Amino acid sequence: MALSFHTLPITERREETADSVSIGFSVPPELRAAYQFSAGQFVTLRTRIDDQEQRRSYSICSAEQDYAESGVLRVGIKRVNGGLFSNWANDHLKPGQSIDVMTPDGRFTTASEATRSRSYLGFAGGSGITPMLSLIHSVLGTETTSRFTLIYGNRNARSIMFLEALEDLKNRYLGRMRLYHVLAEDHQEIELFNGMLDQAKCAAFLDQLVQPDRVDEVFICGPEPMMNAAEAALIDTGMPISKIRIERFGSPVQSRPILPPASPNPAEVTSPTKLRNVVIVADGKSRQLQLPDIGISVLDAGLAAGIDLPYACKGGVCCTCRARVLEGEVVMDKNYTLEPNEVAQGFVLTCQCHPRSDRVVLSYDERL
Ligand SMILES: Cc1cc2nc3c(=O)[nH]c(=O)nc-3n(C[C@H](O)[C@H](O)[C@H](O)COP(=O)(O)OP(=O)(O)OC[C@H]3O[C@@H](n4cnc5c(N)ncnc54)[C@H](O)[C@@H]3O)c2cc1C
Ligand code: FES
Repeated sequence: MALSFHTLPITERREETADSVSIGFSVPPELRAAYQFSAGQFVTLRTRIDDQEQRRSYSICSAEQDYAESGVLRVGIKRVNGGLFSNWANDHLKPGQSIDVMTPDGRFTTASEATRSRSYLGFAGGSGITPMLSLIHSVLGTETTSRFTLIYGNRNARSIMFLEALEDLKNRYLGRMRLYHVLAEDHQEIELFNGMLDQAKCAAFLDQLVQPDRVDEVFICGPEPMMNAAEAALIDTGMPISKIRIERFGSPVQSRPILPPASPNPAEVTSPTKLRNVVIVADGKSRQLQLPDIGISVLDAGLAAGIDLPYACKGGVCCTCRARVLEGEVVMDKNYTLEPNEVAQGFVLTCQCHPRSDRVVLSYDERL
């Protein structure tokens, strides 16, 4: 189903910490199917601040089964220092109001199956707990013999988001969920639980409390240094990268190597000012544009031509703007989200891509 915005009423607001809230949207019955999500996915919120349209993505913290019962979809929003949207949302979003919410998207998920018995591991930091909360609840609720170990880093006890919800989960799935809080500022009795989730700390957890060779899937979400540290410590244990899932909330400071673009041969890059014909297919309709092979992205050119196209971050992180190249060649400036096999299938981030052949046909209607 194509991604689309709908205006949803806000029915819940909880103060999670001094600098974060969770917001619940009530999805009307006729839209319930459109907002059906897989645990770990996110929604994109859209509003106008100082007369400018702003979009930001927020992971869903509700469990799949709770949404099916109540039709309420919740997100957790933590203030970012100097951040425009997160502070506006914390200050303004309240029950009785409504906001534009895009239908769910994202691939930080797992296919839970009632018959599976698996061992999951999560490394979370700060607001990175949001998708993890949904994953833990959904996975342990569906797979009745699976286990989840969560290692969650925060500055101090007061800054732990969803503290109560996590304790409830631990009690509900007694013996199947293990939860370790790692605090940088508060002192805890066990030394392992003090300090930052750097590579040495992650390695110590893997050595002392987790048996990495028995783990089926790992989820990592949090600040960039923590995610890099956890990934490196896991790889050091010999864990295959295919078992490790990472959700980025922003552009990495030091990027992973940019994955190969859909056009593999840089020798074919011709004059930078050449105009190319680009056909954009969206919602079953085709529009032809002409755009240069450097400068404006395919997404921005499409939006400027008045085509309603999905996007959120415009930074190569969220993957909302993806499309598939059906004909011709393009190149991407950045890619922090598409996997090599997705790129091999012709998927591109249109906020980052430019035409490289005289004719390109891209479709937003193809799903990953
Ligand atoms: C797939 C996805 C899921 C996300 N889920 C969540 C979520 O569940 N909860 C949540 O609180 N946020 C989440 N985010 C981040 C969120 O979309 C915004 O980026 C964040 O709220 C900051 O927006 P802002 O407008 O306040 O900051 P901006 O005004 O856009 O940025 C201000 C400054 O903050 C820096 N910055 C931006 N984002 C972050 C960040 N996440 N951490 C640290 N510094 C940052 C920028 O580099 C800039 O310097 C998610 C992002 C993505 C892509
Ligand atoms: S809009 Fe987020 S990756 Fe393109």
